[in-house]
Amino acid sequence: RTIDDLGELRGQRVLLRSDLNVPLDGDRITDDGRIRASLPTITRLTEAGARVVVCAHLGRPKGEVDPRYSLRPVAGRLGELLGQDVAFAEDTVGESAHEVVDGIEDGQVALLENLRFNPGETSKDESERAAFADQLAELADVYVSDGFGVVHRKQASVYDIASRLPAALGGLVQAEVDVLQRLTEEPERPYAVVLGGAKVSDKLGVIDNLLGTADRLLIGGGMVFTFLKAQGHEVGTSLLEEDQVDTVRQYLERAEEEGVQIVLPSDVVVATEFSAEADHEVVAADAIPADRMGLDIGPDAAQEFADALTDCKTVFWNGPMGAFEMEPYAAGTKAVAQALAEATKGGALTVVGGGDSAAAVRQLGFADSDFGHISTGGGASLEYLEGKELPGLTIFEQHEEK
Ligand code: 3PG
Repeated sequence: RTIDDLGELRGQRVLLRSDLNVPLDGDRITDDGRIRASLPTITRLTEAGARVVVCAHLGRPKGEVDPRYSLRPVAGRLGELLGQDVAFAEDTVGESAHEVVDGIEDGQVALLENLRFNPGETSKDESERAAFADQLAELADVYVSDGFGVVHRKQASVYDIASRLPAALGGLVQAEVDVLQRLTEEPERPYAVVLGGAKVSDKLGVIDNLLGTADRLLIGGGMVFTFLKAQGHEVGTSLLEEDQVDTVRQYLERAEEEGVQIVLPSDVVVATEFSAEADHEVVAADAIPADRMGLDIGPDAAQEFADALTDCKTVFWNGPMGAFEMEPYAAGTKAVAQALAEATKGGALTVVGGGDSAAAVRQLGFADSDFGHISTGGGASLEYLEGKELPGLTIFEQHEEK
C-alpha cells in the first residue's frame, strides 16, 4: 500500500516514521542527508493537507530520557529545510504530545521526541511494545512507514504500529527497495561489491550471500586484516577478529570454488598508533611490521580497486576503506568513491549503502549526484542484500495477504 491508497488525507493526522538518526557534534548536525531524504514524503503529505506527526529515533539511548539524544536540533533543521515551523513535542506520547499534535493545523508538521526514550519502542517483550504502539496510535488516524534505515528493526514504531492504523509505505522506502531489488534480482554484470568498515563479524551474513550473487568482492577497512591473517600473513597491531579467521578462510575457499573474485589490497598504510599525527608509511600487505597498525589501503591497492570497478555495470559499496576521518588515511576511501563516480558516469548502477558511508562520501567532497543511489540505511541495506526478512516490510506483506 502506498500513500495514494490511503484516500483523502486533508485534516487527517498522519503518523510518519522517518529515519532522522543523523550524526551530531554536540547539538550541531554534521550530516543532514537523512533529514533531506525524508523531505519528499513529508511535503507530499503536507501538500495533501495532512497534519504530519513525524516520529523517529536518535542514537541508542537505553529507554530513558537522555538529553544527548534529543531530536530538538533535528526539529530545527527540518523546519529550515521545509520552510515552515516544526512543532516539537518533548514527549513521545501522553498528554503533552497530544497537546502538540492537537495544536497543528492541516499542512503543518510536528516532530515527537526520540522514540527510544521510551523503553516500549525497542523492547523484546511484545506486550511492552504493543502498549507503546497503542499509545502512538492514539496520536494519529493513519500511519506511513518511511524510515528505510530502521525497517530491519522489530520495534514498536516500525512493526507493531502498522497493525493498529490504516498503513502505507512512503516513497523513500519504496525507492530504496526498488534499487536494492535491482541488485538482488538479476543485477547487470559484472557486479562488484566493495565492503569496508571495522568488523568482519558485522558482514558475515552478507558475504555469505554475496558469494552466490556477486562477481567480485573488494575488501578494505579494518575487516581486511582478518582476511590477510586468513591468508597466513601477520597483521601487526591492526584490528583483528581472531575468532573469525577460520570463517574467513572458508569464505576464501568458497569464493574460489564459486568463481567469485576476491580483491584484497596488495599494500596498506600503516602507523605506529591510531592518530593523524602518528608516523605512517606504505608497506606491502604481506609485510606489516609487528609494531604497526594498518589504517588505510595503500596507493597500489587503491589503483587495483579502481581497476576492478571500471568495467562493472553494478556496484554496491558499504564501509570506508580506512580511518578516512583522519587525512593521512583518507586516500583509499576517496579512491573508491572516485571509482564509483566514474562508473556512474559510464552508466553503471552504483549504490552507496549506509548512513556512515553516505556521510563519508559527502565529507570527502562528493555530491549525491556522483552516485546512482545513496541509501539511507546501512544495516537495513546489508540485511536486505543478505536476504533476511525485514520486519518493517514483512508486516506490510502480511497485511496484503490478509
Ligand atoms: C542506522 O543508523 O542505521 C539506523 O538509524 C538504525 O539505527 P540502529 O542501528 O540504532 O537501530
